[in-house]
Amino acid sequence: MKEYLNYSLLSHNTFGVEAKCDRFLEFSSTADAVEVASQLRHSDSDLLIIGSGSNLLLTGDFKGIVVHSAIAGIEDLGHCQIKCGSGVLWDDVVDYCVNHNLYGAENLSIIPGEVGASAVQNIGAYGAEASDLIVEVEAVEISTGKVCLIPKSECHYAYRQSRFKQEWRNKYLVTHVTYQLSDTFSPRLDYGNIRAKLAEKGISNPSAADLRQVVIDIRNAKLPDPKVQGNAGSFFMNPIVSRQTYEQLAERYPAMPHYTIDADHEKIPAGWMIDQCGWKGKALGRAGVHDKQALVLVNLGGAKGEDVVNLCNAIRKDVKTRFGITIYPEVNIR
Ligand code: EPU
Repeated sequence: MKEYLNYSLLSHNTFGVEAKCDRFLEFSSTADAVEVASQLRHSDSDLLIIGSGSNLLLTGDFKGIVVHSAIAGIEDLGHCQIKCGSGVLWDDVVDYCVNHNLYGAENLSIIPGEVGASAVQNIGAYGAEASDLIVEVEAVEISTGKVCLIPKSECHYAYRQSRFKQEWRNKYLVTHVTYQLSDTFSPRLDYGNIRAKLAEKGISNPSAADLRQVVIDIRNAKLPDPKVQGNAGSFFMNPIVSRQTYEQLAERYPAMPHYTIDADHEKIPAGWMIDQCGWKGKALGRAGVHDKQALVLVNLGGAKGEDVVNLCNAIRKDVKTRFGITIYPEVNIR
């Protein structure tokens, strides 16, 4: 276990906001995580468990303990299952799968973040979600130090949601996640412009590596590189609305994009609504709205967490006024 006091979180948040925490604890094994849990039990400080900080906005110094997993390793369990350390970069998992003929993760290529966050946040893109692949989550219960194997059915996964984000928040330290892949490649090409991009490249029968590359190309064209411009990917979640609300809006905006969730619900892209409100490419102080994807807020250089929060609030107000819909940040604001 590593421990640092009065520690800078600059390299631990992709927004590139300077902030410190009182104490930073990092575990590299399940035994380490048990030790961290014991230390947490003996402290009444605030707790923030982070992954790679790619979904985090810090609004000031964190007066408490920040915990991070550095558990490495991808273990092949056979039967197309892999068990991954919670500190492994998510995209290293996708890369491993594509290179080992394990199929099903391609659409989730280059999502920033780590394995632990994949299980907490239920990361998703291009019609796929981490929960499609998760079998079970191994985690240390902080209150007891017990190592628990939590089956997917207990995690209550939904769009960008899990119990780890809700009633289990700060109750577990995720140590490993087991994923089920497939030995049959059944590409999902119908979401967004995947098919169009494959056609542009003259690919009619894509391999898993082709699909991964196209997803990487699409994301790179739309989403800013945090190493160049601080950001946390999509800042807001796409709201899921009732069919009645959707139909009323669709009458006013016939070109409005939407994804059907079930007979009673539709998902409306928040990026489209923010764009319609005229925010794309605009700024408020040192925080801005990305000019290629309005769902992404960026640090224009030297932004404080507060600048981003002000921009977030201005956008939410405009979306509410114009569409009558409340949008919520996907990013963890602390
Ligand atoms: N749109 C606009 N203007 C914009 C942005 C989007 O008109 O500025 C329209 C697009 O033309 C499209 C629709 O809105 O018709 C949806 O846009 P896009 O396909 O870019 O996806 P999204 O709904 O904005 C979600 C995920 C992304 C993921 C993409 C692709 C969330 C919160 N975000 O974005 O995830 O990459 O779908 O599947 O669900 C992330 O979570 O950090 C992330 C990048």
